[in-house]
Amino acid sequence: MEGYRLVCGAEVSEPYQQLLALHRVCFGQYEGVLPFDEEILRWFIQRPGLGLEHTLVVVYNNTVVSSLFLTLTSFYIDGHLVPVGIVDTVMTHPAHRGKGLASMLLEEAKGIMRKHQCWFGYLYTIPETRQFSLYQRLGYRDFRRVFHLKRDARPLRGELFAEDEAHVFLEDGEMVRSFLNDVFQGYDGFIPFDKELWEWRKMRRPSAIPAKVIALKDERGLPEGTLTLTFGEIVTSSGTEKVVFLSDWVGLSQAAKRKVLRQALSRLEGTKVDILCPVDNSEDWNILGEEGFLPYLAESAMLCPLSKEAEAMLQQPSQRPWYPLIESVVGV
Ligand SMILES: CC(C)(COP(=O)(O)OP(=O)(O)OC[C@H]1O[C@@H](n2cnc3c(N)ncnc32)[C@H](O)[C@@H]1OP(=O)(O)O)[C@@H](O)C(=O)NCCC(=O)NCCS
Repeated sequence: MEGYRLVCGAEVSEPYQQLLALHRVCFGQYEGVLPFDEEILRWFIQRPGLGLEHTLVVVYNNTVVSSLFLTLTSFYIDGHLVPVGIVDTVMTHPAHRGKGLASMLLEEAKGIMRKHQCWFGYLYTIPETRQFSLYQRLGYRDFRRVFHLKRDARPLRGELFAEDEAHVFLEDGEMVRSFLNDVFQGYDGFIPFDKELWEWRKMRRPSAIPAKVIALKDERGLPEGTLTLTFGEIVTSSGTEKVVFLSDWVGLSQAAKRKVLRQALSRLEGTKVDILCPVDNSEDWNILGEEGFLPYLAESAMLCPLSKEAEAMLQQPSQRPWYPLIESVVGV
């Protein structure tokens, strides 16, 4: 393609300003999207396994006109921890669309994943859209469906739990980290929280989207349930609206799970709450339904197999529950 050059973000001038400008043009008007600022963008690019070197861009006249983020990491699938490449935030400037730029970046990403022996390419998108067909054409399969569920600002029904039953666990973050790692290793799609990922996800946050980890302790002081709350503001048709995103929700029992959720909701009265839940996780889905959450938007977790073994795994998918990767769906 005449005049277009595919390079990495480290090779362009003012990469953050350029990517931010492109992001505003491509996603700025999307309802429900969290507006990016430079701090959020810099934080996202510091994600372990991403960096400017895996920020793939197409340049035209020294201007970034198309880009994607590629994160090289490992996730669990069928009980195995395998290398995977996650593709996020594919975008092309409207004046340069339909010329194959996004396809070229996706093919380049696939080449890098192959070089790093990744088993799969992995991304999220809204099913039955034009970009969904584009990803399918490039080898991505509609693997699992996840829904956004929301709960409008309204009071909780029934009994509330005493305030002292919940503890903010920042000083005990290590305990919650290993609790999450233990529980989620039985889930497909989970990326283990090593120290670096934990720090990036939970501690070193951009100021516009702070996070708070809450956990319930049992009588021995061990975590029996936990949930992460991330505070943000999304774009709506009439401006912006405060939303709290819930993630990393686990409990040793259904009761513990419900308790930690209710504990969080009791602190969030008056705010809209959003959570991702796979359609086939009936246990979580039922609790959320009973607490007033309603599904409103589907997302497809798409996988592109990059080896024979990976292909075979997709032919016979495991029955394990799926871990929704909120940072790749919402960007928080
Ligand atoms: C999706 C997007 C990245 C495609 O970029 P692109 O460089 O035009 O892609 P390519 O030229 O390689 O492929 C074109 C294909 O993209 C898909 N596409 C999705 N939205 C499109 C749009 N608004 N205009 C043109 N093509 C679009 C179509 O499938 C198209 O194929 P078709 O012409 O056969 O319908 C671009 O449209 C965009 O930035 N959209 C807004 C941001 C977005 O939704 N990103 C995806 C998030 S998951």
